[in-house]
Amino acid sequence: MNILRISCSPQGVEGESHKLSDAIVRYLLERGGSTVTLVERLIGVDPIPHIGADYANIVQLSAEEIQGNALARLSEALIGEVERADAIVIATPMHNLGVPSVLKAWIDHVVRAGRTFDVSAEGKKGRLGDRPVFVAIASGGRFSGAHARQPDFLTPYLKAVLGTIGLTNITFFSIQGTGLGSTAVENARRMAAHDIQVHFAPDYLDA
Ligand SMILES: Cc1cc2nc3c(=O)[nH]c(=O)nc-3n(C[C@H](O)[C@H](O)[C@H](O)COP(=O)(O)O)c2cc1C
Repeated sequence: MNILRISCSPQGVEGESHKLSDAIVRYLLERGGSTVTLVERLIGVDPIPHIGADYANIVQLSAEEIQGNALARLSEALIGEVERADAIVIATPMHNLGVPSVLKAWIDHVVRAGRTFDVSAEGKKGRLGDRPVFVAIASGGRFSGAHARQPDFLTPYLKAVLGTIGLTNITFFSIQGTGLGSTAVENARRMAAHDIQVHFAPDYLDA
């Protein structure tokens, strides 16, 4: 089993979203058997470059030209990581109501017309086989539930954009309210850990 983790916090492994994703990765590693691998992309601290002018024409490049173009090669490498993954974990903070720019840069490399999706008269059609995607979100305020005080463009956007390339099996976990004081953070961590446990090991409730 191959696991790919894309971690987007500028705090790196100290990020709340990264730590939340550790719990997901632990379950996947446990279930992955003896040949499990974990590929890590810490793009929050080691960002991938934004697309450039020549990338806009990538659709017209031949396979040889892609090999001669650094950004196109990077796009191929990132897509290859997704293609080889049996499960994908995205750890991300909410930034300005949506995804951080580092995650948007990754998406721009991976969601590529003619490579990971096709455009037809009926709309965009994903080329990748579906596989589970787990998203671990940390946010300073709340964006869902009765106490939400801000709109959420993060989860609908990820659903739509990953769906474009064929990834529709997406599960979200979140620690909301990291800016609301230590009690709120502790409660949010506990609830998120519980949600992950229920998802991966529902039987523990009967024990
Ligand atoms: C540039 C920036 C924008 C942010 N925008 C939001 C926001 O729109 N909504 C929110 O609830 N929190 C926002 N936050 C707070 C982070 O989501 C919060 O601190 C989160 O816990 C960080 O997660 P991390 O430790 O994984 O990086 C923002 C933080 C930064 C640095």
